[in-house]
Amino acid sequence: MKVHHTIESLQSDLLTIKKAGKTTAFVPTMGNLHQGHLDLVKKGLSLADSVIVSIYVNPLQFGANEDLSTYPRTLDDDLFALKELGAAHVFVPTDEIMYPEGKEVHSKVSVPKLGDRHCGASRPQFFGGITTIVAKLFNIVQADISIFGEKDFQQLAVIRKMVEDLCISTKVVGIPIVREDDGLAMSSRNNYLSSDERMIAPTLHQTLLAMKEKILEGVEYEKAETDAIDALNNKGFVVDYLNVCNSKSLEPATSSDKELVILAAAMLGKTRLIDNIELSLK
Ligand code: PAF
Repeated sequence: MKVHHTIESLQSDLLTIKKAGKTTAFVPTMGNLHQGHLDLVKKGLSLADSVIVSIYVNPLQFGANEDLSTYPRTLDDDLFALKELGAAHVFVPTDEIMYPEGKEVHSKVSVPKLGDRHCGASRPQFFGGITTIVAKLFNIVQADISIFGEKDFQQLAVIRKMVEDLCISTKVVGIPIVREDDGLAMSSRNNYLSSDERMIAPTLHQTLLAMKEKILEGVEYEKAETDAIDALNNKGFVVDYLNVCNSKSLEPATSSDKELVILAAAMLGKTRLIDNIELSLK
């Protein structure tokens, strides 16, 4: 496995791979890899000849009062796990490489509307930061396939839209959420939870599961949402949003929508947890 710190070094090896007629899969990450990330890499290995992983904590997607400085950075452990798994190339750029003249004056990519709701409403800088860095990484790596986790459901939808709108020639593949045994969706931010909060955290997933059942039994979306928000608040969460949505547009679901997703974000103490569950009314 080769670790690259410059775009030139990575692209020179990628050219060799392309010239040999081999296919590539790309897994962008912010590091602090857990099983969810490793499953993305495994999927890449099953779909392409070489897997390229990027590890970069992108400052552009963090708000002024968010956790950029404390975001867990575990590069040595990450590289060890990736090597064990069989990733071929890891790109570990610095801010100077990604934003040479500073992030404020860097060109931006945005996906209006789809990126404005849910996480985009409470974190206005978030999706613009993600689409800018992911577009840049896509252009650098030019992989046949790019792989993302479905835990970040809205992120995946925004990236799919960007790829379609900008005719980016990579196939975007989504991989189901990987959960702890008690149902908590794996996330690097779970490390922030105190031991008491960690016991409560799986309630988010349980609440979404219960909500799904209620909707399938015919309970109205608004009632299901209000009940779920009350249940979470009673457990100590502060709910940011919890919405039954059309799974493609991510707009509030109407009675004619059949493919739905329940999207949720909630603070538990200082930790922001997100989760989602899909359901089909067919
Ligand atoms: O999902 C993430 O880890 C990040 O948002 C991504 C896609 C690597 C962009 O920084």
